[in-house]
Amino acid sequence: MIHQSQNITDYPNNNTIFSVWKFKENSNYKAVFERLCALVSNLNHSYVVRVPEGRTSCIMGIGYEAWLKLGMSSPLPKEFKSFEPIEGEKYTAVATEGDIHFHLRAMNAGICYEMAKDIYEIISPVADNLVEVHGFRLWDGRSILGFVDGTENPIGDEREKFALVGDEDPQYKGGSYLFVQKYLHNLKAWEDLSTSDQEKAFGRYKLSDVEMTDEVKPTNSHSALTSITDAQGNDLKIVRDNLPFSNPSKGEFGTYFICYANKFSTTLKMLENMYLGNPIGNYDRILDFSTAVTMLIINKGLTSPYIGNYFIDKNMNLRG
Ligand code: HEM
Repeated sequence: MIHQSQNITDYPNNNTIFSVWKFKENSNYKAVFERLCALVSNLNHSYVVRVPEGRTSCIMGIGYEAWLKLGMSSPLPKEFKSFEPIEGEKYTAVATEGDIHFHLRAMNAGICYEMAKDIYEIISPVADNLVEVHGFRLWDGRSILGFVDGTENPIGDEREKFALVGDEDPQYKGGSYLFVQKYLHNLKAWEDLSTSDQEKAFGRYKLSDVEMTDEVKPTNSHSALTSITDAQGNDLKIVRDNLPFSNPSKGEFGTYFICYANKFSTTLKMLENMYLGNPIGNYDRILDFSTAVTMLIINKGLTSPYIGNYFIDKNMNLRG
C-alpha cells in the first residue's frame, strides 16, 4: 500500500466544491501556503473523527508555476509540466492559468461549505479565486448528459495503482497528477439527439450503462477514444471523479472533469485522442456538445474553459 496524505483514491461522494486560485504578485503567499498545508491535513483528520460516515476529503493540488514560485522540491515530478493547448481540427483543449486547486468532497454539502470557508479565509488575502464550481451527484451517478459517469474507473487496489505515483519516481511516490477541465454543454442540442445517437456518442447503452461491443461501438465514441493501452496491450487508466453542475435559470449545464493519474502521459494520450482524434480527425463525438466555457477566466487575451494540471504532493511540505 502506498502512503498518501490526501485521500486521493477515495470514492466519489455526493457533493463537491472545486476551486482554483492564483497567487497575487508580491503577496506573502509562501507563508500562507504553509498554513494551507497544515489546514488540509487538519481538515482530513478532523472529519474522520467528527463525521465518520461522511467520507470527507480535502485535496490540494499545486500548479506548475506555483511549484516553482513556492520553491518546492527539485527535480520536479518526472511528468510535471505546464499544460500546452491541444489543437484539433475542430476543437482545442486550451490552457489557462491556476496556482492552487482544491477538490473538497463530502456526503453533506454543509461540510464542503465549512471546509471551503476555512480555506478561503486563509487563502483570499494572497490569491484571487478564478473558478468555484459546486458539483452534485445526479441520480445513480449520471453525468448531466444522462449517462452513468465513472463505471470503468479502477476499483479496489487498482485505484492506487493507476492514481498514485509509484517506484518509477521514488521521490514523489504517493503523489498524483491531477488534471481538470470545466465543460459547458449544449444540452438542447444533445437532447434533440435520439437516445440511439446519444448512445453512439458514448459507446454505451443509456439505461443499462452497458458498454457496446467493439463491433457496434463507433470509433469516434467517447469510450473508444479514451480506452487506451500501453505498447504491451495493458490497459492504461486514470481515476476520475467528474460531477455535474448547473444553474438552470441561466441555461448553464456543465461537467467538471477531474482525474488523478500516476503518469500525466496517460491523461494526455486520452486528451489527444479526444481532441486530435484517432486516427487524426476522428475526434470525440461528445465534444460536439461539450463546448469551451465562456468564463471570467482570461488568459493571455483568450476567453476559455478552465483547464489545468497540478501535482498532489505526498507530504505537502515546502521542500527544496
Ligand atoms: C464533457 C466531459 C466528459 C464527460 C461528460 C464524460 C463522461 C463519461 C462517461 C459517461 C463515461 C462512460 C462511463 C464510465 O465512466 O466509464 C466516460 C468514460 C470515460 N471517460 Fe469521460 N467524460 C468527459 C471527459 C473526459 C476526459 C476529458 C477524459 C480524459 C482525459 C475522459 C476519460 C474517460 C475514460 C478513461 C473513460 C473510461 C473509458 C473506458 O474504459 O471505457 N473523459 N466518460
